[in-house]
Amino acid sequence: MTTSTLSQATIKAEDIVGFTCRTLSSMGSEIRRVFLLGQKLREENPNIDLVDLSLGNPDLEPPLEVRNELVKLAQERVAGAHRYMDNAGYPDVREFLAGRLCKSEGVPLNRESVFLTCGAAGALQILLRTLLDPGDEVILLAPFFSEYRPYVTNMGGVPVIVSSDENHLPDLSNLRSSLTRRTRAIIVNSPNNPSGALYPESVVHQIANLLTAHYEETGRLVHLISDEPYARLLFNPSELVSVLKLYPAAWLVRSHSKDLGLAGERIGYLAWGPALSLPETLNALRNSARALGFVNAPALMQRLLPKVFHASVDVSQYKQRVDAFVDVLQKGGISCVRPRASFFVFPKSPIADDNTFTERLVQFGVLAVPGSSFGKPGYFRCSLTQPLERVVDGAQRIVRCAQSKSLK
Ligand SMILES: Cc1ncc(COP(=O)(O)O)c(C=O)c1O
Repeated sequence: MTTSTLSQATIKAEDIVGFTCRTLSSMGSEIRRVFLLGQKLREENPNIDLVDLSLGNPDLEPPLEVRNELVKLAQERVAGAHRYMDNAGYPDVREFLAGRLCKSEGVPLNRESVFLTCGAAGALQILLRTLLDPGDEVILLAPFFSEYRPYVTNMGGVPVIVSSDENHLPDLSNLRSSLTRRTRAIIVNSPNNPSGALYPESVVHQIANLLTAHYEETGRLVHLISDEPYARLLFNPSELVSVLKLYPAAWLVRSHSKDLGLAGERIGYLAWGPALSLPETLNALRNSARALGFVNAPALMQRLLPKVFHASVDVSQYKQRVDAFVDVLQKGGISCVRPRASFFVFPKSPIADDNTFTERLVQFGVLAVPGSSFGKPGYFRCSLTQPLERVVDGAQRIVRCAQSKSLK
């Protein structure tokens, strides 16, 4: 092609967006579709009264002390405070986290077993890039965070979906039969997005036993990746299960996107126990962080962490919304497991087709995401990141939609 014909008019989308990117982008596209639908409705009618329960963008502002500490840090004049650093993060911050995690998780950790990341998403990418070879299988327990599919596929892995029961707990016999010689990892997400379910210790213990039995039978080590960005949004904090204590090849992924309301600031970490602490581990993770272009977690946020680790957004506000929302739905005849954490609710769709139901909901002014995008059709996810009155209004509209003649 000569430069004379190369104009804006001749360049097509496929000249820019590769096939792989298009395939990855289409995974979990239902969330985006609902979001765009809402955007279109707003453009058509700026005064439209929509209760948007589609995106999981936490609305509670960071606690005041987080803001105050940030201001202090920004005013400090420390040479080199904004430079590159060890890809794993500042040693003193990792040391601090290791100390806290030793206590909360009940396993010995040190700064060599903590890696600071750009949120939980960054930690998952770095870890999957480190663990996976092409064709390796990664088990996802439905319902699952819809980004897991592209994360795994991105790194050459193959997602394998395991079903769950009506309480959104994994079907363990399905898990047993899904383990193969190609299984490299399983991602466990408890408290769960989208269901708000918390896996009891007995369930995590049984998962660990299945993985151990698989190792003894086949010699294949299956890593357990425990993705826990909602760990500190539990309504009853004493219910938290220490995965590191229950399985030697477990990785803990946490972030402060939700509990400190810092989703846009990208701070999280990866931690692992003594069995995974080989001389090669930390360097392999460093290489992955570099190759993926994360390089290191934001310096300012790292320095902030030890100062505000004890703080949290007001979890009782999320609980109040969840309880009020579930009460309205249940009274209205919509089946719904009461979440034990965070701000997601995952009710059963009154009709089998969750895509049709969520489209019908738009006519009642509610945006919600079909369960199909989380690997569990027949349900829909509502993100309660709106004030209490809006959330209750949303629940009432959902009930009206479910009871409407047009749905029968
Ligand atoms: C289950 C789950 N994992 C990971 C993430 C990514 O979190 P972060 O913002 O810390 O990267 C999210 C965000 O919504 C999530 O719900």
